[in-house]
Amino acid sequence: MIVAIDGPSGAGKSTVAKAVAKELGFSCLDTGAMYRAIAWRALQDGVALDDEPALGAIARTYDIAFGHVEGDPVPRRVFIGDDEVTDAIRTAEIDRAVSPVSAAPAVREALLDQQRRIGNAGDYVVEGRDIGTVVLPDATVKIFLTASPEARATRRWKEYQQKGIDTPYEDVLADVKQRDYQDTHRAAAPLRQADDAQLLDTSEMNFEQSLEAMKKMIVEKVG
Ligand code: DC
Repeated sequence: MIVAIDGPSGAGKSTVAKAVAKELGFSCLDTGAMYRAIAWRALQDGVALDDEPALGAIARTYDIAFGHVEGDPVPRRVFIGDDEVTDAIRTAEIDRAVSPVSAAPAVREALLDQQRRIGNAGDYVVEGRDIGTVVLPDATVKIFLTASPEARATRRWKEYQQKGIDTPYEDVLADVKQRDYQDTHRAAAPLRQADDAQLLDTSEMNFEQSLEAMKKMIVEKVG
């Protein structure tokens, strides 16, 4: 069975998806990590981020794999080819590079096969931007997880504060809105709610409430 979770960046998708997978005993596929891994390889190889054929070649050449930290049933380690990139793909540099990489049709096409192969291999929670619309349109449960730009900016701003990064809230909000625009307006597989997806707006919810709401939606759908 597949649970597809899509939504904009900063809505808490990854955290909630991994928690729900753990509780259901499902595996979890973070498709954003795959685009991030391609972006990392491109930067390593000095490939220009607008060189679509070269980006596509990377996506077709390298296998992306996920691995477990001992004792954790949800895979959190990420590999591309022989390199582990678990931490290397969570930097500001990759945040910037991954947008053009994920907009390249040749990259999306190559990753589609890998995502379908992994996602169809068992019980999976698969999260991304186009899972319910393009990658796995027959998923049993589809949830579009979102929150207002202000709520998402506030969460990110608090994370920055905790890390000692002093960024004005207005800048964080502008960044959130810019990413939303990029994700929803690109030509290839833009972010949108599938017609048959259930909407979960977590603007007024904390993590526990979001998790409970998502579990309820899944149970109601599959009985
Ligand atoms: O969810 P994330 O921030 O790790 O995603 C990284 C980038 O990849 C982001 O720019 C959106 C893009 N992405 C996508 O285009 N399609 C997906 N299924 C998942 C992520």
